[in-house]
Amino acid sequence: MAHALGAQVSLSLPVGTDVSLRKSGLKGCNNVSFHNNFWVPFTSLDLRSNKVQSKCRFKVVCMSVQQASKSKVAVKPLELEDAKEPPLNLYKPKEPYTATIVSVERLVGPKAPGETCHIVIDHGGNVPYWEGQSYGIIPPGENPKKPGAPHNVRLYSIASTRYGDSFDGKTASLCVRRAVYYDPETGEEDPSKMGVCSNFLCDSKPGDKIRLTGPSGKVMLLPEDDPNATHIMMATGTGVAPFRAYLRRMFMEDVPTYKFGGLAWLFLGVANTDSLLYDDEFAGYLRDYPDNFRYDKALSREQKNKRGGKMYVQDKIEEYSDEIFRLLDEGAHIYFCGLKGMMPGIQDTLKRVAEQRGENWDEKLSQLRKKKQWHVEVY
Ligand code: FAD
Ligand code: A2P
Repeated sequence: MAHALGAQVSLSLPVGTDVSLRKSGLKGCNNVSFHNNFWVPFTSLDLRSNKVQSKCRFKVVCMSVQQASKSKVAVKPLELEDAKEPPLNLYKPKEPYTATIVSVERLVGPKAPGETCHIVIDHGGNVPYWEGQSYGIIPPGENPKKPGAPHNVRLYSIASTRYGDSFDGKTASLCVRRAVYYDPETGEEDPSKMGVCSNFLCDSKPGDKIRLTGPSGKVMLLPEDDPNATHIMMATGTGVAPFRAYLRRMFMEDVPTYKFGGLAWLFLGVANTDSLLYDDEFAGYLRDYPDNFRYDKALSREQKNKRGGKMYVQDKIEEYSDEIFRLLDEGAHIYFCGLKGMMPGIQDTLKRVAEQRGENWDEKLSQLRKKKQWHVEVY
């Protein structure tokens, strides 16, 4: 990516040098480019995980913060912009594509309840996708409900842009939370009930083969007809995946046909500070694009809402209701991704706020749907 960096001074460091990075004060350096063909979001990973240090054998280039400001990364192949329709179901469960794991990194700190991993998959450019789509993964083994048959496909939102984290159109990244089952009596993890596919993905190693299907999904595609539009994104946990992709396309990549000049506003709900996902990446956009990016966090187990309950993303809607309603009236897109359980709370909050404003929420919602401003993907 030397051509994208221009005349910037760069410093090359092995990713595993946690101590030297921290000591050199480079921890906050978020504009990271890459050598060869792989990019490691090392500040996002925050080097909190020992795995990061032990596994990383490649080097990253860290630009000086001031000089790096607003520089974007060149991407290829630009033919990925040419299609008029998104790719759909290029590979189906009966004939999945066999891809290769590039890396698996823990994204969260030690105090996060549960584990979430960032998984980079090499599809060799054979399974192209657009931002907001999902891949299906078929875990190895037999479906316990259909002896002799493979497991059912599990869907995962793609967390990278169509160019992937290595900006060459050959990889896709997933953000996967291990589904863990705790015995209600003992409080212990019950290995017989651990989620099959999420544990397979989080346990996989570079070089492992995985079977994938897709890409699928249209509801979360990023509408690009107006590059100056407003996009309000509400995520819980791994629901941040498609938004990471949008934001990289808007602020990190140099895409000649998409020059974002609007407002992207991300609300992220997670348990605590250690559970934040891609936080350094987002903080970098805030620093470099303060007029185009807003970022609000709801830390359910660290912060309280005004009623003394857990702070959830819907409480943030309430806090900013006037602005959110104004932006929606002006045509903003609003997206919800993550826990299914968040939607009733969000709908209740929006209804309450609308009533306080003397508006009818049901009518407003049907207008938003009609105008294709309302996008929901929850699981
Ligand atoms: P499964 O094996 O399918 O088990 C499901 C649940 O049941 C688990 O919580 C497990 O602990 C529990 N369980 C298993 N066996 C038992 C038992 N005997 N008794 C009681 N409980 C049991 N997930 C992500 O992490 N990231 C994403 O980006 C993402 N995107 C998605 C996008 C879409 C459109 C959809 C539909 C889903 C998405 N998911 C995502 C969810 C994902 O598809 C899987 O559902 C999730 O990873 C769990 O799959 P699993 O195979 O690990 O668990
Ligand atoms: P909590 O688990 O404290 O109740 P994570 O993947 O880090 O757990 O993120 C999921 C986030 O979504 C957590 O903060 C979780 O809070 C929160 N959450 C759980 N249920 C809801 C809900 N009904 N509405 C909004 N947020 C929720």
